[in-house]
Amino acid sequence: MLWWENRFLSVRGQKLYLGETAASAFAEKYGTPLFVYSRAQILANYQKLRAAFAGQTDAEVRICYAMKANFHRRILKIFKAADASIDAGSPGEVRAALDAGFPPEKVLFTGTSVSADDLRKVFAVDGLTVNIDAIEQLEVMKNVRDRWFKNKKIRVSIRWNPGIGRGFNPKVITAGKQSADGTPIKFGIEEAKVLAAFEKASASGFNPVGLHQHLGSGWVKEDFPMVVGAVDKMVLKSAELQRKGFPLEFLDFGGGFGPRYIKEQKPFPVEQYARYICRQVRRSSLKIQAVVVEPGKFLVADGGALLVRVEYVKESYGNLFACVNGGTFNTLPRPAIYARAFHEIVNCSRVNGGRKVPVTVAGNLCETGDVFGKEIMMPVPKPGDILAILCAGAYGRSMASNFNLRPIPREIII
Ligand code: LLP
Repeated sequence: MLWWENRFLSVRGQKLYLGETAASAFAEKYGTPLFVYSRAQILANYQKLRAAFAGQTDAEVRICYAMKANFHRRILKIFKAADASIDAGSPGEVRAALDAGFPPEKVLFTGTSVSADDLRKVFAVDGLTVNIDAIEQLEVMKNVRDRWFKNKKIRVSIRWNPGIGRGFNPKVITAGKQSADGTPIKFGIEEAKVLAAFEKASASGFNPVGLHQHLGSGWVKEDFPMVVGAVDKMVLKSAELQRKGFPLEFLDFGGGFGPRYIKEQKPFPVEQYARYICRQVRRSSLKIQAVVVEPGKFLVADGGALLVRVEYVKESYGNLFACVNGGTFNTLPRPAIYARAFHEIVNCSRVNGGRKVPVTVAGNLCETGDVFGKEIMMPVPKPGDILAILCAGAYGRSMASNFNLRPIPREIII
């Protein structure tokens, strides 16, 4: 068995199967490029996370699916049916979650650079919780509430920046002072201002119900010690807030735990993480109703594959390219925009067979970085072969653009 085989992906003979169907059959029927998502694998990921928390705490465990990872309506419906909650990053995402049937009580809106217009849209949704990104945002919130929703008691939480961030790439480290490449980090409220933010929220007539943090994205095993350090900080800060008279209903530890994208990565120990969170909450003096996590990629990444067709194989200066009929920016921009965003790529009709050589899988856009994988070891593909780019269920279509006026691919769910 290959390390990436799961409920969705399997190898039979030399062929890649998606569920019970050969990947090439989907390519033939629906055309390429094509996203195929697996309901069974997505649900299995969700159940795995639920099981990790089971029996660890008396508090309710809320799994808020970070829908920025993949907002396909039917994927939202899978999570709705599984009783998940939603992390929405914009009024558009809030709308899509409500349209998919999520009750407002299960939606947390976490915005950044939030406008008065955004606030007006989200305040109109009764029961939703608004996560505050800046103490400075409270003034605008108050004005919007007083103008359009006089006397409405709006549920809010505070997104703090605990000073510790972690992610696979500097662009997705979301806490700390600066990212690994020196970019100042825009998210959340610094530690010294957290109490003032709670006080100001209360004094402004909002109902503060939670503390939230999100450290970054794409953790593997080595990230565990740093990440649990931030869990400790969060628990201490929450206990302090409760002592000061803020009866927190929930602690939201954010998302970030990665799926395994390539063989060399050691997966993040999710069970251990769930146990750690629950133990620290239990040992503290905290009285809370719910522990919240907000994963995106953990839930959907390995439940998706992108199929592309090889148009021709080209050799230039000793480089071998499989030139395919899709571009990264229009399908799965990750390998083009983040250093170290690796995806396994397999030939659907010859997964294992033949002598392997380094092949660069190049897209059809006018940009050198438009490669799905650099020098991937695989048998030399032939024109017409279908390649599957694995672990493509998260931050693919949701980040895709129409660069070069190339279309965004079709998506199917099996
Ligand atoms: N909660 C908040 C507030 C977030 O900003 C994010 C992601 C998540 C939860 C979910 O993080 P996850 O569990 O998916 O790591 N485009 C990048 C990932 C950016 C994530 C940004 N925030 C990528 O393709 O790797």
